[in-house]
Amino acid sequence: MISKITSPDRLHGIVKPPGDKSISHRAGLLNSISEGVSHVSNFCVGDDRSSMLGCLKGLGANITRHTNCKISGAEECFEIIGSGLNGLAEPQDILNAGNSGTTMRLISGLLAGQDFFSVITGDASLRNRPMKRITTPLTQMGAYINGRDDGSLAPLSFTGSSLKGIEYTMPVASAQLKSCLIIAGLYSNSPSIIHQPAESRDHTERMLNSMGGDLEINGLTIKTGNKELSSVDVKVPSDTSGSAFWLIAGVCHSDSRITIPGMGMNPTRTGVLEVLESMNANITIENKHLEGGEPAGDVTASTSDLVATEISGDLIPRVVDELPILALAACFARGTTVIANAEELRVKESDRISATVDSLQRLGAQIEETSDGMRITGTHTLTGAEMETHGDHRIAMTNGIAGLLASGETIIGNSEDASVSYPSFWEVVSELQK
Ligand code: S3P
Repeated sequence: MISKITSPDRLHGIVKPPGDKSISHRAGLLNSISEGVSHVSNFCVGDDRSSMLGCLKGLGANITRHTNCKISGAEECFEIIGSGLNGLAEPQDILNAGNSGTTMRLISGLLAGQDFFSVITGDASLRNRPMKRITTPLTQMGAYINGRDDGSLAPLSFTGSSLKGIEYTMPVASAQLKSCLIIAGLYSNSPSIIHQPAESRDHTERMLNSMGGDLEINGLTIKTGNKELSSVDVKVPSDTSGSAFWLIAGVCHSDSRITIPGMGMNPTRTGVLEVLESMNANITIENKHLEGGEPAGDVTASTSDLVATEISGDLIPRVVDELPILALAACFARGTTVIANAEELRVKESDRISATVDSLQRLGAQIEETSDGMRITGTHTLTGAEMETHGDHRIAMTNGIAGLLASGETIIGNSEDASVSYPSFWEVVSELQK
């Protein structure tokens, strides 16, 4: 699909992004291995949802989609009949995580402790993403795993094994790695002690605690527990990362006001709001409340006089998915913004450092690639051009927002790549252009 975008004179509206992908994945996975029946509403949409649900169903999970859900009152919900920790079954075929790193890494934690054989693979992008970070500690726990390049790359195969706890210092601040080890801990005969180098999203910890799990968290150290879990109903808040696109459109456009009702505001995810605040952005937050044990609020972004900032250090894991769109914001800020210590971006769905630099350079931005980030000098003006998604949903959407801000026409090939996490993204863009 090719999307052609021009900048509208005004950018005003209310946007409701899909349910949070990270929280949805955990709600689906953890409720499948809990005891009881749960209903999950506002589940994320898109290809990554199909990947996670497909893997769970391949393992025998009992998940049914309902429309006009009587229990939650939602238009759509998933009813999950939990099988308990040991109720999953050997998959009859290879599990496919598609483009979803979260699916592959979290499901691997689950597969490591099962007493059956399984294989998990993914699309070309996922088959090239680093898996050694999970296979090394899982193997230390006693898992028996094979994979391409000595267990570094998917497909990965798991042969039934019993697990023991380990003490492990994570080499990267990754919520996918941490969650993989916490899930494997549910199947271990002794606790693991996991030391994190910095804080990353804590949705797994929050959900396990709400399910009666006995996780102990002490600063950056987590002690895992292996207690049976009780199912919980979850109403998933709007995706923080999906919301960020509209927030940046709102603060960068010269006549704008965009409101996101019920945006997820978990502090391990709101690095984007902290960065925007440091850029002097015009953001207001109202109606703060809890949704499914997760903080949420109505967030409004309006035309702002942005200044440059530095995004680095421990902030990076809390803003990791928003760095491409924040690089776009930096094009509309006075001064030079520096993004550093963000080498993890090179191993996301694409090399997001070079993909972001490629996109913004095509539009005439003053942006320079560094080994672990980028430097962007704001010029307050971009010129429409032909763009590429690099097969990455977040780059596709960054290009779309850039088109709403650039002069002339922006043409985006393969724009359907956005549907990995946000299938209605281009409809919202069209609505906002009216
Ligand atoms: C995710 C964690 C992040 C993020 C990804 C989703 C998760 O990755 O980039 O989109 O749901 O755990 P890492 O924290 O593993 O880098």
